[in-house]
This record gives sequence, structure tokens and C-alpha cells, in this order.
Amino acid sequence: MEVPLCRSSYDDCKGTADWLQNRIKHTPRVAIICGSGLGDLADLIEDKIVFPYKDVPGFPTSTVAGHAGQLVFGKLQGRECVCMQGRFHFYEGYSLNTVTFPVRVFFLLGVETLIVTNAAGGLNGSYNVGDIMVIKDHINLPGFAGQSPLVGHNEDRFGVRFPCMSDAYDQKLRALAIQTAKEQKCGSFMQEGVYCMLVGPTYETIAECKILQKFGADAVGMSTVPEVVVARHCGLRVLGLSLITNKVVTDYDSHEKANHEEVLATTRLRAKDLQRLVRHLVTKI
Ligand code: HPA
Repeated sequence: MEVPLCRSSYDDCKGTADWLQNRIKHTPRVAIICGSGLGDLADLIEDKIVFPYKDVPGFPTSTVAGHAGQLVFGKLQGRECVCMQGRFHFYEGYSLNTVTFPVRVFFLLGVETLIVTNAAGGLNGSYNVGDIMVIKDHINLPGFAGQSPLVGHNEDRFGVRFPCMSDAYDQKLRALAIQTAKEQKCGSFMQEGVYCMLVGPTYETIAECKILQKFGADAVGMSTVPEVVVARHCGLRVLGLSLITNKVVTDYDSHEKANHEEVLATTRLRAKDLQRLVRHLVTKI
């Protein structure tokens, strides 16, 4: 049987990393992937060097509303970092290999910590719209269906064939996030819970939401897990933050309907709090 090869090889990732390395002034230690409507964080970066994805060799372009589509290198509160303003989603038609390509490039650039943010639907009945959930664990539902970014040839220069995922979300970073949230007066709307990824682009049916609640998921979204799997494969420390933009519908009599406009409206309301939290957090990493 033919062994499938990674579509982006180590050399492809290295080629992109070298291209970027030749054009940046500082080596980033922290990478931040901004979710829908949360990209304004990159505006706070000082001493910026910006690369639209279309100009970066090997980078796909991002299509979804609410995503700018550029890499921003520079300093956030004095810490060297790189920010992805706009991520790639599986539902856009990219392979999981392509979705996670930037994470491998970050690793090759010397990044040690990955912060991922996303918008998510609240499954936990005690969560409110506008809560920020520190991701404690995830459920890789596409993985249950055979869709993992690590399927195929294993590139040992990135990581081992069978990476551990029971410690995917760094305990110290989670504690730091909660402590920083308290300091930044965000403590009253912080949660810690389990994120479940579905492929999308449909929002969930009522029956699906009920299953996910029974699975023990607290929030549901269409991103993040592939990037985290690849980040852990290559040994990056990960912190995940979900902004609860809507409550999922679990009642057949409800007239509520999940929609992208509500998701973006909530991110606009909470974006500044999330930015402040991440900005202060990076100084402590
Ligand atoms: N479901 C899936 N993805 C989402 C949701 C949701 O309710 N809200 C924001 N992203």
C-alpha cells in the first residue's frame, strides 16, 4: 500500500520560516492565533512588521468574514511575538495539513508558546454570552471521524508518531490566565472548560448539542483543535481561550438561532477585555 506523504513537507515549512526569518528583526517566542473578530489584538503590537498571507511563500489565504489574513511580527508589551490575524479553517476547504502549516512555521522560527483564541458556542448551561473560557481540554470530533492533521507519514523532526494529548493545555499557563484575568478585572466572566471541535460550517442541531453536552463539552467551535494537535506534536506549550459568543440552542420551543452576526457582535463587545488579558499574560510567559 502506498504511504501517504505530508502535503507540506518539512522543507516547505522550513522554506517559509527561513523566508520570514530573513525579514524580521526579532525572534518571536510567543505566537498568537486570533479567532473571528479578535484580530484587533495585532493592532497593539509595536515595532510591527506585517506580511499579508498572500505575500508569504507557502501560505494559503483566509476567506472568512472577520479575518484580516496577515502575519504581524513585533512586540506586545515588550515581548517578541507573532500574531496570526485570521486563521485557516477546515470548512473553507483547506486540508488539515494546510490549516496547521503556520504552527509548524512558528515552531521552526523558535516560538515556544502558542496562544489560540476562538469564538465558541456555550454548551454549559451556567455560561453566559461574553464569558471567556480557558480551555482545559478538547474533544477532537473530526479526529473521531479520521480527520487528524497528523495522519500520514510522521516527520520526526517535528515530533513523535504518537504524541500525548492528555496534557495539551498547559496547566501553568491556565493558572496564569485565570490569575491575570482577576488582576485585569475579568475574573467575574472567566470559566475553565472543555472545547469540542466540529467541522462546521453549519451550526449544530439541537440533537447534536445534546450529545456534545453528554460528552462533557462546555463549548463548541469550528477551529483550534488541529492547530493545538500540531503544536503539541512539535512540543509547543499551548494556552487556549474561547470567547462564548452565543448560547447553543437545546430547546425545540426556542426561537433563538445561532448566526455569524451574533458571534461577531459579541466579539466586538468583549474584544478589548480579551486583548487586555492576552497583552498582560504575555509579559508573564
Ligand atoms: N457553534 C459552532 N461554532 C461556533 C459557535 C457555535 O454555536 N459560536 C461561535 N462559533
